[in-house]
Amino acid sequence: MKRHIQWTIWLLAAALAFTAPALSAHAHGGHTRAADKGTGILLVTFGTSIPEAQKAFEVIEERVKAAFPEADVRWAYTSHVIRKKLAKEGQELDSVATALAEMMEEGYSRVAVQSLHFLPGSEFHDVQINSHKFAEMEDGFEKVSVGYPLLSSSADLARVAELALKMAPKDREPEDAVVFMGHGTHHPSDVTYDAMMYHLQKMDPNAFMGTVEGHPTLDDVRAELRERGTKKAYLIPFMSVAGDHVRNDMAGPEAESWKSVLEADGLETVSVLKGMAEVPEIADVWVDHLRGAMKRLEGHGHH
Ligand code: CO
Repeated sequence: MKRHIQWTIWLLAAALAFTAPALSAHAHGGHTRAADKGTGILLVTFGTSIPEAQKAFEVIEERVKAAFPEADVRWAYTSHVIRKKLAKEGQELDSVATALAEMMEEGYSRVAVQSLHFLPGSEFHDVQINSHKFAEMEDGFEKVSVGYPLLSSSADLARVAELALKMAPKDREPEDAVVFMGHGTHHPSDVTYDAMMYHLQKMDPNAFMGTVEGHPTLDDVRAELRERGTKKAYLIPFMSVAGDHVRNDMAGPEAESWKSVLEADGLETVSVLKGMAEVPEIADVWVDHLRGAMKRLEGHGHH
């Protein structure tokens, strides 16, 4: 009897010894995946339907590919409206969920999702939630990590403030104002623009932060300009691309555009039609955040 039990234990141990490596190989990543394509990168932006504005994305892609030459780079647009508009023009762009599903099917085991948003706002949170769900699926990715948006630390704000100020034309006089137009959001992360104002002011007392939909408002900026008796202002997008908001809300001919409002106040304005992502050094801030996400992919655990 005793001898019989010992045999059984020995057989069990032997069986486990053979199956254990196979079990651990299956523990992450599923059983049916044929070839592991390794690590992929998914760049996520709101998107733009303006072709000239898309060159900002080319700059980012170039910098990302230079930093991670081994990894495949894909794109996803979060804006349903822009995806639909582009599809009508024959340009197919994926949502985050579609892009990740495709990458899963193709056999990537790990994906770094880089948010090309400015703030950790509602779009970023959606990207984060949806991306991580793909790591929870049976046969899903082994691991997914999400890189932070552009302005995710005090150091980011200082770095971006300095680079953004360089977008003003060289012939600007120090008393000329530089007015940045950000998007703004109802999400609590809107306070980032107030923080941005602090960093800009520290570097240049005639630099101002305003937003289309949040705070500070254009009226806040106008009050500052009035107080200083400013005669001329450079209008610069605080957005990744010079898209619809820039061409219409900032520099458009309508009476409500920032250009028109400031000119009605008696200022001379010069609009800079350039997205911030077109500045390679600004694109590199996102690349650095992607580097952090790639690093987190190397560790253990699902997040
Ligand atoms: Co908008």
